[in-house]
Amino acid sequence: MADRDRSRRGGARGGAGVALAEIRRCRPGDRADLYRVCLATGDSGGDASALCRDPDLLGHLYVGPYLELEQSLAIALVDGEGVAGYVLGALDTRDFEARAERLWWPALRRRYPEPDPAVRPTWTRDDRLAHLIHRPPRAAPEITATHPSHLHIDLLPRCQGAGHGRRMMATLCDALRERGSPGVHLGVGRRNERAIAFYHRVGFTELRASPDALTLGQLL
Ligand SMILES: CC(C)(COP(=O)(O)OP(=O)(O)OC[C@H]1O[C@@H](n2cnc3c(N)ncnc32)[C@H](O)[C@@H]1OP(=O)(O)O)[C@@H](O)C(=O)NCCC(=O)NCCS
Repeated sequence: MADRDRSRRGGARGGAGVALAEIRRCRPGDRADLYRVCLATGDSGGDASALCRDPDLLGHLYVGPYLELEQSLAIALVDGEGVAGYVLGALDTRDFEARAERLWWPALRRRYPEPDPAVRPTWTRDDRLAHLIHRPPRAAPEITATHPSHLHIDLLPRCQGAGHGRRMMATLCDALRERGSPGVHLGVGRRNERAIAFYHRVGFTELRASPDALTLGQLL
């Protein structure tokens, strides 16, 4: 899985910039860079650095388990400046959740105590993230019945708007299809209107809606 892209559709570098980037499998040594991308895009697509006291919490939730448990479906975007994005997938969400319960969350639960629910209104952003380590959201059975796989995608601003997101989604969806998945889903906050527009544009439709978030899906 390696692909040189010479998209010239502009993007953050402007029309004259050439967004030259490679798509390749993530490697264990990418972990810190992938965590940085996660933090830099963790506030509804914007930089969450100022919101999180612990810069690793978002990565522990949304990157670490995929590198640890589903590395063959962890895909990085690398440009001349280094790792600039990722798409991370899980083939069978139910199985992934069960393996994470055994192999990923226990060590983090020891390291990050569960915040006291009695003072929930005073929780900081870090407290809310630590809460998710203790109670990670589970995909709904009616979603996984038809769309058993799921994914997360995040690209740094310098690589946005140049076609890389579409190519990365296609790369991951091809890999999921090859492994027999009939469908993939993802969650997105309603505030992230740009990502929602992108997902619709690349073929995802709404499966479920809550006041704060949407679950979107695509059959493969
Ligand atoms: C959302 C994100 C993955 C999209 O990737 P991208 O590389 O910027 O998107 P692309 O350039 O590949 O765009 C693909 C298509 O979506 C369309 N699109 C992208 N953003 C759009 C928008 N705001 N409105 C309408 N269409 C949009 C593009 O026009 C393009 O259409 P085309 O291929 O038919 O011409 C990327 O911008 C990103 O990582 N953002 C920050 C992190 C984030 O929000 N992640 C999602 C968390 S749920």
